[in-house]
Amino acid sequence: MLHRAIFFYLAVAVVLLAQVAQAVKREDFKTCDQASFCRRHRQLSAHTLSRYSAIEGSVRLEQHTLSALVEHSDDNVPLRIDINFLSSGTIRVRGQEDAPLVPRFDDTQRYVLRNEGSRLPYAAPHELQLTSETADGQRVHTVSYTNSSLDISVRMTEQPWTLTYLREGRPTMQLNTKGLFKFEHLRGKSDGDNVDDEWEETFRTWTDTKPRGPESFGMDISFVGYKHVYGIPEHTSPLLLKPTRGDSSGYDQPYRLYNLDVFEYEIDNPMSLYGSVPFMLAHSAESTVGVLWLNAAETWVDVTYAKTNAITSFFRRSSSGSESTVDTHWISESGVMDVFLFPGPDAAEVYRQYAEIEELPPLPRDFAIGHHQCRWNYIDEGDVLAVSDKMHEHKIPYDVIWLDIEHTDGKRYYTWDASKFPNPLAMQEKLEHDGHKLVTVVDPHIKRDTSYCVWDDANKQGLFVKDKDGSSNFQGWCWPGDSNWVDSLNPDAVEWLRKQYHLDKYNGSSPNLFIWNDMNEPAVFNGPEITMNKDAKHHGGWEHRDVHNLYGMLYQKAAAEGLRTRESPNKRPFVLSRSYFVGSHRYGAIWTGDNTASWEHLRASVPMILSNNVAGMHFVGADVGGFFGNPDSMLLTRWYQLGMWYPFFRAHAHIDTKRREPWILGEPYLNYIRDAIRERYRLLPYWYTLFREASLTGMPLVRPMWMEFPKEESLFGEDSAFMVGSAIMVVPVTESGEQQSVDIFFPQQEEWYDMHKGIGHHGPLRRSFSVGLADTLVFARGGSIIPTRERQRRSSALMKQDPFTLHIYVSRAGTATGRLYVDDGETYDYEDGAFIERELAFSNATLVSRPSARTISSVARTTFAKSMARVRIERIIITGLRSPTTMATVSEDGKERQIQLGYSGYSADNTECVIRDPAVHINSDWEITLS
Ligand code: GLC
Repeated sequence: MLHRAIFFYLAVAVVLLAQVAQAVKREDFKTCDQASFCRRHRQLSAHTLSRYSAIEGSVRLEQHTLSALVEHSDDNVPLRIDINFLSSGTIRVRGQEDAPLVPRFDDTQRYVLRNEGSRLPYAAPHELQLTSETADGQRVHTVSYTNSSLDISVRMTEQPWTLTYLREGRPTMQLNTKGLFKFEHLRGKSDGDNVDDEWEETFRTWTDTKPRGPESFGMDISFVGYKHVYGIPEHTSPLLLKPTRGDSSGYDQPYRLYNLDVFEYEIDNPMSLYGSVPFMLAHSAESTVGVLWLNAAETWVDVTYAKTNAITSFFRRSSSGSESTVDTHWISESGVMDVFLFPGPDAAEVYRQYAEIEELPPLPRDFAIGHHQCRWNYIDEGDVLAVSDKMHEHKIPYDVIWLDIEHTDGKRYYTWDASKFPNPLAMQEKLEHDGHKLVTVVDPHIKRDTSYCVWDDANKQGLFVKDKDGSSNFQGWCWPGDSNWVDSLNPDAVEWLRKQYHLDKYNGSSPNLFIWNDMNEPAVFNGPEITMNKDAKHHGGWEHRDVHNLYGMLYQKAAAEGLRTRESPNKRPFVLSRSYFVGSHRYGAIWTGDNTASWEHLRASVPMILSNNVAGMHFVGADVGGFFGNPDSMLLTRWYQLGMWYPFFRAHAHIDTKRREPWILGEPYLNYIRDAIRERYRLLPYWYTLFREASLTGMPLVRPMWMEFPKEESLFGEDSAFMVGSAIMVVPVTESGEQQSVDIFFPQQEEWYDMHKGIGHHGPLRRSFSVGLADTLVFARGGSIIPTRERQRRSSALMKQDPFTLHIYVSRAGTATGRLYVDDGETYDYEDGAFIERELAFSNATLVSRPSARTISSVARTTFAKSMARVRIERIIITGLRSPTTMATVSEDGKERQIQLGYSGYSADNTECVIRDPAVHINSDWEITLS
């Protein structure tokens, strides 16, 4: 026992030392070559014809499904491929053995898709038509799908088996045309057979027993006519994915998707990180398409940029004229093949199509989009309240203070260290009184300790993940030492977990406490690649291999459901998770894990956050300041100036770092940081309205420049500037130095207004700006209306009745539009209409406020509207008016009034006109006409 303890503390010491050493230990993690299935697939060479063919006579169209039996010329094991047509034009390609020896894991869809994958909106059978012909000696089957808005078809060849997705007659996405389809069918084991590590493999000191043998599969997906692909987080690559084969400017490894706890991760690397979202977009000036490779097992993705001869007939390529293609190769270790191809033709349509199969992100709690203050660790109650008071003293708004693992009794989650936190409820009450919330960390490893009732209870009920034998608990080390892991795939364990968050279970918790699920990849300090052994067993006898990338998401889901149901009526939860997968956006926020206090990491946070947003993971942030190391004052200042634009805005730091709360820096940094945080608070109405939009459309909150300017090719690789919604362009300063010169491109025939100075720039224009540490480069796009709340408070809780300001940035045509969405920020009453949503439009010198088409009358709405009756628009600032006017007529409720306008230094450069206190309400219809 003593030995074990010594060994454990040594291991923790090694982990902590590794953290201090500040370099990723690459040897801890596999390359493709060291994962035998990846190696076997990557050995195939592209551009040889596939040896998989459709069995003659097996192709048929039934209902919404085109199916075929496909087999490899060597083994004659029929695979069943189903191509399902969804009503939006999306196609879903599923494949596995026609008669598998044992079932493959096919529950990923249950955990991820709408209605658990059943009752998806498939195309009506009468809209699909199959024609089969023989051309160039090749049997080709084409299904045309025509409804009112689409002209799409899918072509399948028999020999070799390939699939081409066509939109308006043009190929856009192709499967197996590079010949990389490979399906390792399930098989029986013959004695001593372990060719190429198919039945057992060893990585460093860990042996994976692989009782089911090889069961991986891979497929090439080509994007024809495209040169740019994005997404598949989480990696530290640039936004525009670098090639991974045959290009010295790229990587030599595929992008890996296998949730891992990677200490001191490196920038510009395709290695796995904490989350995996196999969702990719391909974009060209003409169109955008998307792919979701729905698989929760370890997955690798190769990306190659190629030029191929333009396709004239199906197999003939013309010798003149070439077309760009992005060839991707997707390889998964187990499960079934399940791929969605989204036809677009633009990003907004891809997200609409994605929303047809996947739930949209829910509206977060209002406090969750404010400023969060975390560190490992705030030591005790006195420390927590002192930090909170200091925030007030320095007039820095913040919403949430966080407690890391040290607040517990010996890393026993759901408990408190009684000497440091003797009165957690009183502490929460004080925070609540001042308008703040508390978050505590709950990791999925449960300390093995018979006197710890959480462990004891879970153990008695058999809720832990099991070892490979399927009966004893899987055991490993994490923060508390010897631990077991609750099986988030076991419905009983989920129910049990949910209850742990209820007020009667979690002692010392109040409705003012929210949750952070960390280490849920899961991190196992003494496991292979710092995670769980793949042959560990989950509920239903499934191996960890099959569900690895789902595990953390399901942990977060249980926490979110626990918080949601701890009060009646239910309130919206807030849970931050480190591990994530497709669909995690439904349960809360994520962050980019343990980054480093360096300029390189500051810069890399932009493409990381954009890639996550591209893949539907909207609510994401990076640790402001960098987790490891000590940022100097300049870096920390710049980090707040960028971090205030992260959807999830939290400062955090490692236990060994120096304290770095903003006041510690002193002036002038404190001032700059305060300004940045206050700007976040001013813009909370805009952010909340953006979250609302995301909850209806799936559109990212922060967007790559190309997404707003899809035809502007010079922006396709841009990841140092980004858009927040469609109205704000942010160009962060991410280099060290008091004075920096930053190049900015203002796209399109549009006006761009410096949001701090009011100065306009006429696009298209490239300009350099020289900026000092006080300056940030933020531009409003002409044609936008941005709502703000200008009164500075301690937290968002105290702003609920504050008046709004509307900022109108006039387009070249003299117009602008925008939206304002408000609800109570905590309940689900908005689902019954308890919200105010206004469409704001400015044209012909008149600003009009109207209810959005989604506004419905209901009791809930009337009650909410009453509670907001006194909330008014206190100011309207119009930037970019061609010529000054002096008076405006306000009409509201059938009454008219005249008011005087003011100007703040109106000049050719600065054209800000201010309507002070127009005295109009947010919930009534009104018009203001300038005269
Ligand atoms: C992990 C988390 C980090 C946290 C630490 C201690 O490293 O990523 O945010 O502070 O664990 O809980």
